[in-house]
Amino acid sequence: MTRRNFFFGTAGASVGSYSYAYYFEPAWLEVTEKTVAIARGRLRRPLRILHLSDLHASEFIPMRYLAEAFRKGLAAKPDLICLTGDYITSDRDFDAAAYVETLKILTAAAPTYAALGNHDGGDWAARSGWFPTPDRVIRILEQAGVHVLRNRHELVTTAAGAVHVAGLGDWWSNDCLGAAAFAGVPAGEAPVICLNHNPDGKQECPAAPWELMLCGHTHGGQVMIPLYGPPRVPILDKRYAAGLNPFDGERWIHTTRGVGNILGFRVNCRPELSTLVLA
Ligand SMILES: [Fe+2]
Repeated sequence: MTRRNFFFGTAGASVGSYSYAYYFEPAWLEVTEKTVAIARGRLRRPLRILHLSDLHASEFIPMRYLAEAFRKGLAAKPDLICLTGDYITSDRDFDAAAYVETLKILTAAAPTYAALGNHDGGDWAARSGWFPTPDRVIRILEQAGVHVLRNRHELVTTAAGAVHVAGLGDWWSNDCLGAAAFAGVPAGEAPVICLNHNPDGKQECPAAPWELMLCGHTHGGQVMIPLYGPPRVPILDKRYAAGLNPFDGERWIHTTRGVGNILGFRVNCRPELSTLVLA
């Protein structure tokens, strides 16, 4: 190989890798579906949940991408939609009115419930110089018809049957209050689902009656090195970095890789639209 060929070959590979990581993979949504056997006869039929997380509306994640992702997710015909936080990246670069209209794509299709993430405002966001409270993000969600569960729960009636949905506040923001989120939730009567942005928040409610916990936060690592894994996953308990994993015997934690990303790139770690079927 001549020096000239080597130079142009290397330069071409670098441009190709950059283009792939910034322009192709971040929008290459993977649609996944997993069955979770926790219903034990308590539902009329299998309950389909669309689990979306880490939307990260920003200069890197435009509304048209989120609208397209929502429509693609709805093709799975969910009975219930669960969102697990990080609706924005910072307080600077999102259009609240457009966001409300985009989220209505989801709420027009099925009851939609949401927990908040560390980027949505609160202690962690304040330390980053952004919103000190999640009030603005909560307003966007509620104006779109999303039920925000911040350390509280609701009994949700769906076509498949009733489920308790509890939502925790964000763990990094010191707002994850397990006792408040589950106060009065009876064990065993109907399946209990917990929305919890950061999987590490599970340590705030180990004895609560949740049977399936839905999480995001990790982005699956956002970068996955072959034969090694993600170089950085921002959680303590790495067992819950991605996918459907058992917890404490008969319970499950699902961590989705998320729809958006931070800073506009993904490598071997595609964005995900997750459907979970409770059967
Ligand atoms: Fe995130």
